[in-house]
Amino acid sequence: MKLAIASDHVGLELKPAIIEYLKELGHAVEDFGPYSAERTDYPAYGKKVAEEVSAGRFESGILICGTGVGISIAANKVKGIRAVVCSEPYSAQLSKQHNNTNILAFGSRVVGQELAKMIVKSWLDAEFEGGRHANRVKMIGDIEEQLLC
Ligand code: RB5
Repeated sequence: MKLAIASDHVGLELKPAIIEYLKELGHAVEDFGPYSAERTDYPAYGKKVAEEVSAGRFESGILICGTGVGISIAANKVKGIRAVVCSEPYSAQLSKQHNNTNILAFGSRVVGQELAKMIVKSWLDAEFEGGRHANRVKMIGDIEEQLLC
């Protein structure tokens, strides 16, 4: 899979290990920054990865900030993005199976490196189940298009 990844300055400490892990799993990863520990703003990086995924240049994205919260909120403002913040593997798996999430976020202040890898693996291994979930995901898109009454 072709994945886009980014963080903020807090998530930066965890990002290299996740990039390495993704490569070990056989995925192609592009790092959209930041590339130094200088203080930065998570919305800019959430937006960058979300736009890459929304435009179809990458199949999925991974975002890391202190909690995963701010950066996922920012990503979810981009059309077509369904970003989830997870601190355990079960929600990561279900978010793909039921909600067809296309961005996974987590927090470097919340999860350790090994737990983060488990979360990533569960999310990447899971597949959208469609069926009864497909219309619900479509309804989420309808909110974006202001079509849902
Ligand atoms: C940065 O201090 C922190 O607010 C950020 O990494 C993140 O946790 C925001 O949700």
